[in-house]
Order: sequence, then structure tokens, then C-alpha cells
Amino acid sequence: MGHKKAGYVPALGWDLLTPLYDPLVRLTTREMSFKNRLLDEAGIDDTARILDVGCGTGTLLLLVRRRSKSLLAVGLDGDVSVLRIARSKAHRHAEKIALVQAFCFDMPLADDAFDRVLSSLMLHHLTRSEKVRTLQEIFRVLRPGGELHVADWGRPHNLLMRMLAFSVRLGDSFARTADNVKGRLPALFRDAGFEKVSETARFATLFGTLSLYKARKPLTTAAQRHADSMPAQLADRRMRPAHRSCPLNA
Ligand SMILES: C[S@@+](CC[C@H](N)C(=O)[O-])C[C@H]1O[C@@H](n2cnc3c(N)ncnc32)[C@H](O)[C@@H]1O
Repeated sequence: MGHKKAGYVPALGWDLLTPLYDPLVRLTTREMSFKNRLLDEAGIDDTARILDVGCGTGTLLLLVRRRSKSLLAVGLDGDVSVLRIARSKAHRHAEKIALVQAFCFDMPLADDAFDRVLSSLMLHHLTRSEKVRTLQEIFRVLRPGGELHVADWGRPHNLLMRMLAFSVRLGDSFARTADNVKGRLPALFRDAGFEKVSETARFATLFGTLSLYKARKPLTTAAQRHADSMPAQLADRRMRPAHRSCPLNA
């Protein structure tokens, strides 16, 4: 079972295995197909501000930057050593990405700061309560109308996928992967306030079904609707933004 550090589980469960992450994922998950499809679904334009939560070794961020040099690509991860790999890959490809070391359930990023939030193979590392807090944080940092695009283990779509998913469940803990393989991620997105939630694609991989999901932050949130119905002075106090800091180290 993966070794849970204070606040996160390393990419392959154990620090020692992190250098093997890129070749393993490339060989076993049809990585380029699903990551490019995720970006197609996200419909990124030149001016977009993109956040990749649990960015790991930065492969998705580099694909983002390949689509446009003018967009802002920010990666957040809890693990210093995986961010070191991401930084050296960006350097090798002469790409500009910003990397933040932080936990996904407490992001030091401003409200409404991003047009798209992406997350690939990360949510299954989290407990239910960490998933809930992380989705609330993602909702907060997305601008109204912004979109969340997730690629992660989903409900196995046939018997073979169910059998193959067993190894992920064994490696990453049955409790933490349960919401994924039981197909509960869409309900958790809706509970966090997202609308237009859908599963957009499924990939058969050596570790079971990998699902792509999308969800949108409504243009008007429930909190704003509530504030609109309050007297002006009260609403002003309730809706003042948090103005959190954003320590980006390129
Ligand atoms: C399996 S890797 C996926 C990496 C990358 N997104 C990809 O698709 O290749 C999961 C990543 O999530 C990060 N992670 C796990 N728990 C986290 C947490 N609580 N906060 C921030 N990052 C976390 C790990 O450090 C790891 O880099």
C-alpha cells in the first residue's frame, strides 16, 4: 500500500519509486492519448490561465504549453521531489511553467484566478474528506464559468477492467480509490457546486478504466445568489474576496 506522507501520497506510493513514474505511466496508461484528449475537452485558448492540481512530473503542463506559448500554466503538487523532476523537464524543453508546492486541499492561490483547472491521476490518492476539501478549493480558484477537467480511475466498464483495477486498489488503498471505481466522482463534483458534470471519455488501460470528466463552475454561485438577496452592507462584508497569496516559483 502507498506510503502516506504528511498530507500527500507520492506519485507511485513510495519516494524511491518516483524516478520510475514517467516511463511506467507512459507504458501502462496510454498517457499521450488520454492527456491530449483531456486538453481537447478543455478547449484551451491562447489567453487561458490553467492550473494542474497534483501536476506530478509536469507532463500535462508541457502539453498545455505546446498548445500555446501565451497561456499561463501553473502546476501544484505536495511533493518536492516530483516538482524537481517537473522543473528539470521544463528546463530541458525550454518551457515556462510555474510550480507551487502545496496541498491540494489548501491551495495558496487567489479566488477566481483560473479559467481551467486540470487534474490527472490525483484524486484517487485522496481520502473522501480530502477529495471534498480539494473540490471546494478547485471551485474557489476557478472563475465563474471556468471548467474543471479530470482524468482518473473510473468505474470499470467490463470484467477485464474490473480485474485490472484490483492492482491499483491494492497499491493505492481500497478506501481512497473507492469513490473512483464506484463511479462516485461526478456526484462529488456536483456536491462541491459544479454544474454540467459529465464523463466525456473512457480509456481501457493496464490498470483498469481511466475516465475523463468535465464540470463547470456556474456563472452565478449559490453564495452570490444568497448575497444578492441580502441588504447591501451585509452582502458587501460576506462577499469580500480572501486575497490569498500566490507564491509561484517558475
Ligand atoms: C499519480 S501522480 C499523477 C501525476 C500527474 N498528474 C500525472 O498525470 O502524471 C499523483 C500526484 O499527486 C500528488 N499528490 C497526492 N496527494 C496530494 C496532495 N494532498 N496535495 C498535492 N498533491 C498531491 C502526488 O505528489 C503526485 O505527484
